[in-house]
Amino acid sequence: MNDPLTQPLVFPAGFRWGVATSSHQCEGETTNNQWHAWEQAGHITSGDRAGLACDWWRNAEADFDRAQAMGLNALRLSLEWSRIEPRMGEFDPVAIARYRQMLRALRERGMEPLVTLHHFTHPIWFEERGAFLAPDAVPRFARYAEHVVQELGDLCDFWCTINEPNVVATFGYQIGDFPPGRKGDVRAAVQAQANMAHAHAAAYRVIHRVQPAARVGWAHHFNIFDPARPGNPLDRLVARLQDDGFNEFFVRAVRLGDAAFPLNLLAGDLSDVRGTCDFLGINCYARDLVRFDRRIPTELFGRRFTRPHAPQGDSGVGRLYGEIYPAGIGRVIERVRGFDKPIYVTENGIADRDDRLRPWLIVEAVRVMHAALARGADVRGYYHWTLVDNFEWNEGWGLRFGLIALDPITQERAPRKSATLYAAIARANALTPEMIVEYVSYRPT
Ligand code: BGC
Repeated sequence: MNDPLTQPLVFPAGFRWGVATSSHQCEGETTNNQWHAWEQAGHITSGDRAGLACDWWRNAEADFDRAQAMGLNALRLSLEWSRIEPRMGEFDPVAIARYRQMLRALRERGMEPLVTLHHFTHPIWFEERGAFLAPDAVPRFARYAEHVVQELGDLCDFWCTINEPNVVATFGYQIGDFPPGRKGDVRAAVQAQANMAHAHAAAYRVIHRVQPAARVGWAHHFNIFDPARPGNPLDRLVARLQDDGFNEFFVRAVRLGDAAFPLNLLAGDLSDVRGTCDFLGINCYARDLVRFDRRIPTELFGRRFTRPHAPQGDSGVGRLYGEIYPAGIGRVIERVRGFDKPIYVTENGIADRDDRLRPWLIVEAVRVMHAALARGADVRGYYHWTLVDNFEWNEGWGLRFGLIALDPITQERAPRKSATLYAAIARANALTPEMIVEYVSYRPT
């Protein structure tokens, strides 16, 4: 997609231009969840502390003002379950009151909230019982969802049950970088994803019971796995295996209510999950090339790597993001079109402290979405990850995804050039050739 743009790319009226974030990463002092315990146990590779994060619990409104000034009309945030239900079965009205203030503040500023119920964090009591592997995880999650929609349903009707269940399961039970830090436990990873699928389905039903007109979905992380040598059948096979395990499991559970062989042997009956979404939320960042390698059975014989000279964000201490690949958004849209549901890009972004590539990424993402619309896909919105630099999980403050730079010590903010570009796009509801000339210096070779 490197052809010069000659005409403005205009989006349909009402297209959502938003930003996305999550409670633990931006609220500050979220000390009653398993990620705080993980941090206390010394697992943040940079040694950083989340601390006040972006200080949203006290003053999200200041950043909402910034988002409004950019002309955004949507914002995705998550609720901190550990604040709402600090002890099992005990709900805290003070936490609900603060979320009501925040949702009202968004509405007053003309931004539609998209609310995620579980974005990687949950209360310590839930973790101690076995998190999503616990026998009663599904009713516990459904009860929390019911409480939330009863309390907040007059301010929000757009819900995302679980953020990236495939990432939670893979990083928590296979790779071990996320709590509970298990490595190589494929069985637990599949079972955790299966139980999250049941939890999602139960929440979908409970939300609709309380709020029949609600729009409910989940946010799915799609990573593109391409065969390193497209003509090589073994590379193609191992790339497909990676794709099946990571990208396809949850999507298939929602679409068909089952799992493909051999995952079905571990997943059990998924028929209750079928049809439980009103929209598709897609989180898209990167692509890996995959080459057959008989020495790594633990990675399903697929060695993942990034092609030389591919655009890449800043590197973290441990985590490799691969090639920044906006074209992946278009490929994923094609892939999920069969659901026949509205599609939202619920996350897309890059760790880029110096804003080297972010303007290019935003422009390419916008072009790809516009091309998908022109092919007839029902794309309704784009939520850039993220508004202000936030606490990047096990990488801490090392990776900077914000349109606006943050100094977490002083809480000072400084907009990056990308913020001005994204604001111009949102205000115009279009991308123009002039914007590219003005803001984009990087072009991939
Ligand atoms: C997660 C975010 C995270 C982002 C960048 C997504 O997978 O949902 O919480 O900050 O990626 O790594």
